[in-house]
Amino acid sequence: MTRFTLNTPTKLCFGEKCIEFLEPYLRSHRRVAIVCGRKSARVSGALQDVEQLLGKLGIEYIVIDKVVPNPSCSLIDAVAEEVWRFGPHALIAIGGGSAIDTAKLVATIVACGGSCRDYLYGARKASRNLPLYAINLTHGTGSEVDRYAVATIDETREKLGAGVCYPTASVDDPRYTLTLPRNQTLYTSIDALFHAIEAATSTLANPFTEMLSVEAARKIFEYLPKALEKPDDVDARYWLLYASMIAGIAIDVAATHIVHILEHVLSGLRPELPHGAGLGIVGPKLLEHIYRAKPRICAEILKPLDPSLSGSPEEASRARKSLEKFLRDVGFDEKLSNYGFTEKDLENVLKLLETKPFRSWMRLTPFEVTKQIIEETYLENL
Ligand SMILES: [Fe+2]
Repeated sequence: MTRFTLNTPTKLCFGEKCIEFLEPYLRSHRRVAIVCGRKSARVSGALQDVEQLLGKLGIEYIVIDKVVPNPSCSLIDAVAEEVWRFGPHALIAIGGGSAIDTAKLVATIVACGGSCRDYLYGARKASRNLPLYAINLTHGTGSEVDRYAVATIDETREKLGAGVCYPTASVDDPRYTLTLPRNQTLYTSIDALFHAIEAATSTLANPFTEMLSVEAARKIFEYLPKALEKPDDVDARYWLLYASMIAGIAIDVAATHIVHILEHVLSGLRPELPHGAGLGIVGPKLLEHIYRAKPRICAEILKPLDPSLSGSPEEASRARKSLEKFLRDVGFDEKLSNYGFTEKDLENVLKLLETKPFRSWMRLTPFEVTKQIIEETYLENL
């Protein structure tokens, strides 16, 4: 498996034992703060590798292991306060999207002031940030190569994304994903798959994001079943991580739209809904509409699942079924009610979608999203 580096805005090292790549960057700091969750940084072995490297370089550090999935602004502000008190010269994020996104916001808050919600609402400009090094532990987020951070505003339950900062340098080592539990393997791959589908079909899509998306989806369709069958298959993990990384570059260029928008509303209301699970639940129904609007590229993306797709809008329901079958075959069969949603929540969902941040994000969707589409998608997947 080839190890390589990429010089995107983030300097990325992709492949086994890439941790050494951070050494020249870390050498220039005397004090760093590590931001991570409670478990995965330790279980994956990444935290031990980082601590060993910091020890070797004589760098003083603290570990703030408070990050949880779907982090709230109050949590991020509390981490920022703790980091600010320690006064580090740089941050190291170890984890998936939640840890890396938290660290992006913290790196910005500590350098520019303000609070998490200022950046999510765009009230404050993220003009600079502490140097941030990301060690990615999942094959879903793409956050190690993009500029986005996602968090939930406590009072309104709006789960919003904002372009905050790129990590200075990142590490994608497939060995750190070998310990991902089965459901995380599934959810994070579904996340990467919808990054691919949406970045190739948004109103900002272009030949570059289409190329990345077709390739990302192809790798996910091929290697997700293998990783689920044999979780320690480092080759399968390498390609899933590769797929999520290139899909991350694709969303950095062309963003996501309706599937992510609706999922953000849902997991904003119920943070126990994992991001990838929410996408997997509402995604296939919405794909039917996306396919009708952008049939040529959708057919190209979904061809590994149904080679007979030719790119005609009439195939939309067949395309949806092919994706549903793939998800069923890899063992994903979840409903919104599994997470406590009922018919009553629909009103809140519709109300949140009417708020300003979601309305402006909605403009990236390649078709007109009506109330009826949302109602049908919600109720059919309850
Ligand atoms: Fe996502």
